[in-house]
Amino acid sequence: MAIHKGLFLYLPRYIDRTPNESLGDICRNSIYVFPQVIRSYTKLIDRTWDRKMRKVFWATPLFKFLRYCNDSPLDKAVLDCGAGGDDPPLHLFYEYGYKTFGVEVAENPFKQAKKFCREHSMKLNIMKGDMRLLPFKSESFSFAYSFNAIFFMTKKDIAVSMKEIERVLKPNGLCFVNFVSVDEPDKGPFCKPFLGNPRFSQHEDNEADRYFSSFEIVYKEKRIIDKKTDGKRSVQAYIDYIVEKK
Ligand SMILES: C[S@@+](CC[C@H](N)C(=O)[O-])C[C@H]1O[C@@H](n2cnc3c(N)ncnc32)[C@H](O)[C@@H]1O
Repeated sequence: MAIHKGLFLYLPRYIDRTPNESLGDICRNSIYVFPQVIRSYTKLIDRTWDRKMRKVFWATPLFKFLRYCNDSPLDKAVLDCGAGGDDPPLHLFYEYGYKTFGVEVAENPFKQAKKFCREHSMKLNIMKGDMRLLPFKSESFSFAYSFNAIFFMTKKDIAVSMKEIERVLKPNGLCFVNFVSVDEPDKGPFCKPFLGNPRFSQHEDNEADRYFSSFEIVYKEKRIIDKKTDGKRSVQAYIDYIVEKK
């Protein structure tokens, strides 16, 4: 009887646990109150439904980065620079048990990310902030990335941001960052300049290597994407880096 009672009370909380929570923590923190159990079951049902309906993860280059991070002996803490939007890629790392943090400079994508966290009950720790001046102590992260974000800025600001990423990374920490290549045909301006930049900054094949003088480049890939979306063809060209801080 006691076992059944225990299962009824703790099982939903255990399945719903945060990545660092042990069964012991749950038992210690749980109070024998019915509303809490009902809330946990409701959340579980929502999550199961959500898993069935959730969009497939689309920021696929980050899978490669995740594999490098998983192989690293450093503790599992990751920072996303430019982390906003309605489907923040940080959730991939969260689901693999990482402690996650993100900074997002613009109000709307920040609000969208907050909404995602609320609706999916995920503490991704995305805050309003600017990757040109990261609000973190030096050497506080094992891993950091900026996906589809850094190239919104001028090359001068990209260099500043890369220095900031370097500062907050631990020695041997890993970083992923992607740049738009000069081979991308779309050279059009944004509807309004972003952080003083009129359009995406584009880089030659080896031009971005200069941001990584304090890093070792462990992986570099150029991707040319020719795609049709909503009946419209477009070509995108990116240069991805995974680098390790010396
Ligand atoms: C195209 S979105 C990509 C968002 C997210 N990384 C993703 O892949 O879904 C680029 C984001 O980078 C953010 N961003 C650009 N410069 C930034 C900066 N200096 N600091 C923080 N966020 C920045 C933009 O506001 C925007 O939300």
